[in-house]
Amino acid sequence: MTARPAARLTAADAAPAVAAPSQPPPPGVLAELREKAAARLDPVHRDFYEGGAGRETALADNEAAFRRLALLPRVLTGAGPALAAVDLPGAPGVAPVVVAPTAFHRLAHPDGERATARAAAAAGAVMVTSMASTTAVAEVAAAAHSVRPEAPVWFQLYLQPERRVTEVLVRRAEAAGCTALVVTADSPVFGRRPRDDRNGFHDLPPGYAAENMRDLPGGPPGGTRPIAMSPALSWADLRALRAMTELPVLVKGVLHPADARIAVDEGAAGVLVSNHGGRQLDAAPAAVDALPAVADAVAARIAVLLDGGVRSGSDVVTALALGANAVGVGRPVLWGLAAEGEAGVARVLAALREETAHVLTLCGAGNPAGVSRDQVVPRGAAAGLRGLPPSADAVPGGARPGPAAARSRAEAANRTN
Ligand code: FNR
Repeated sequence: MTARPAARLTAADAAPAVAAPSQPPPPGVLAELREKAAARLDPVHRDFYEGGAGRETALADNEAAFRRLALLPRVLTGAGPALAAVDLPGAPGVAPVVVAPTAFHRLAHPDGERATARAAAAAGAVMVTSMASTTAVAEVAAAAHSVRPEAPVWFQLYLQPERRVTEVLVRRAEAAGCTALVVTADSPVFGRRPRDDRNGFHDLPPGYAAENMRDLPGGPPGGTRPIAMSPALSWADLRALRAMTELPVLVKGVLHPADARIAVDEGAAGVLVSNHGGRQLDAAPAAVDALPAVADAVAARIAVLLDGGVRSGSDVVTALALGANAVGVGRPVLWGLAAEGEAGVARVLAALREETAHVLTLCGAGNPAGVSRDQVVPRGAAAGLRGLPPSADAVPGGARPGPAAARSRAEAANRTN
């Protein structure tokens, strides 16, 4: 079993924000909202939300990789019913499903990031608000805190080549009451997304702006400046960020175990295993395939989160068993928001939290740290075990059965099953 100090179950499990598991949700909440969102969204914006880089290989593989994995339940553990709550940096006693940072929520719904933040706060989930949000971080955090004053909001940051710009953004996040920073490190340049190229979608439509980028040094007074991405950024810039703030800093977009080790050495509070939802390097592996090596490298010293392709409680529990302390969801939140606004986001988060608790209980676990890597097997392997012949000792006379004997045993088994 992997030790996970960053995700200990605490007395905060009893916090009202993270309720005990109730009835499992009706199947297909996410699928229903995805369909409803697709019908409501402008097709150009739908492509922006749904699309990925290149041939969308990484995008597709994020979900497919979960389907290649199965969970081996433990029985008679007496551990359940499970409570789905974890401790994360700057976020004690929260749901193990966080809202991953995604851009431009007001294209999905007029209430935009405020609606998402309110739903996350009510669900006891961390809201990671994007630097590229269409609502300023102060207003996003105020919306979350209007529901629950202690609701954790993390600010996602693209380190800017000009440190004075980064510093202003950090001060705004601090002043808003954010409790952690998430530095997205997988974007030395913008990913190339064919759907957006085809649609000519490269900027927000009139009337919308990346509000965090307003009134920054070097930008037009009252106006916004573009988010810069730079391949010149290095760990030295992360060090400079850490020197500038007391907030815990998580590094998002870590796939290589060597980078996870560096993040630990550099004093990061956590890493997010992520290929940016398949929107940056199309040749990247599925996030869940990269997770075990990163978890090994981190060795429970800091928090490990994963995002990419999480669509069900089974996916959440698979990631927990492979060493994540929590997972993030990006597109599912956007589906809920586009389909039904705040209520839709609330439905997504409730469904995932309840399914997670349900699947944990079915796996014999009493909490998110109660599942371990031995419980994840390639789909098909567990079934294959049935086909193994019994050991020679089990066969009368000590002889291994020949193929004919094995066949007739299999036929007998088929008849009785
Ligand atoms: C993103 N993501 C992202 N990440 C980030 O650090 N800053 C950002 O502004 C955005 N914006 C963004 C927009 C949209 C439309 C999507 C779909 C994604 C990536 C996001 O945080 C996360 O890594 C993925 O969305 C996770 O994959 P799923 O859950 O969408 O499969």
